[in-house]
Amino acid sequence: MAIVVTVAQQKGGAGKTTLVAQLAAALAPTRRVAALDVDPQASLMRWQAARKAALQAAGAGLTVAECAGWRVGTEISRLSRDHDIVFIDSPPHAETEARLAVRAADLVLVPLQPTPLDLWATGPTLALAEAESRPVRVVLNRAPARGRLLDSTREELARSQAPVLAAALGNRSAYATSMQRGLGVTESAPRGLAAEEVRALIAELADWLGRP
Ligand SMILES: Nc1ncnc2c1ncn2[C@@H]1O[C@H](COP(=O)(O)OP(=O)(O)O)[C@@H](O)[C@H]1O
Ligand SMILES: [Mg+2]
Repeated sequence: MAIVVTVAQQKGGAGKTTLVAQLAAALAPTRRVAALDVDPQASLMRWQAARKAALQAAGAGLTVAECAGWRVGTEISRLSRDHDIVFIDSPPHAETEARLAVRAADLVLVPLQPTPLDLWATGPTLALAEAESRPVRVVLNRAPARGRLLDSTREELARSQAPVLAAALGNRSAYATSMQRGLGVTESAPRGLAAEEVRALIAELADWLGRP
């Protein structure tokens, strides 16, 4: 059976698709990775289309499938059979669909940009993971290396007992440019800071993702 990692965050633009694509691309050389696009915007499918075009040049293959939210359980079972890790890019608003995606998860990752508005918008997503008794980890995204906002976001999350990973993704154009090419930063700029961040994130999640 595959490990199922659902990336959930009610707030649009938080970095769900970015996180799924970057983790999937980084793990693809050593694992059988699938990514399930449950978001009607289907940006992961677009990334996969670009990836197929780029694949001759760089990158390892992975499965990207899309499905409507209510079918997420069936689709995960299907993908679990022949993959090691299944990532789910869940939709921002649809309550029922997000719930199904969270329920199916071995781990829920919640990308969060360190601003008060983003923090306040994250409450329902954390509550959902708790209601479904799923382990949850917050991943700070577009995070500065240091600063007041970062500190206060971490403090407030600690107060609400939401586990935050030490590894965070900075605000780097490499994330967007790699995706435009259908790649992850570990493929497009493996020696860059962004790739280092992605590898650190994977290392911190070794309990679920395994050791490379
Ligand atoms: N760490 C980052 N650094 C720079 N840009 C980012 C980062 N994370 C996300 N973005 C950009 O922010 C926008 C929203 O990210 P996206 O992954 O599509 O969020 P979501 O899927 O949650 O709506 C995209 O344009 C993406 O390229
Ligand atoms: Mg998205």
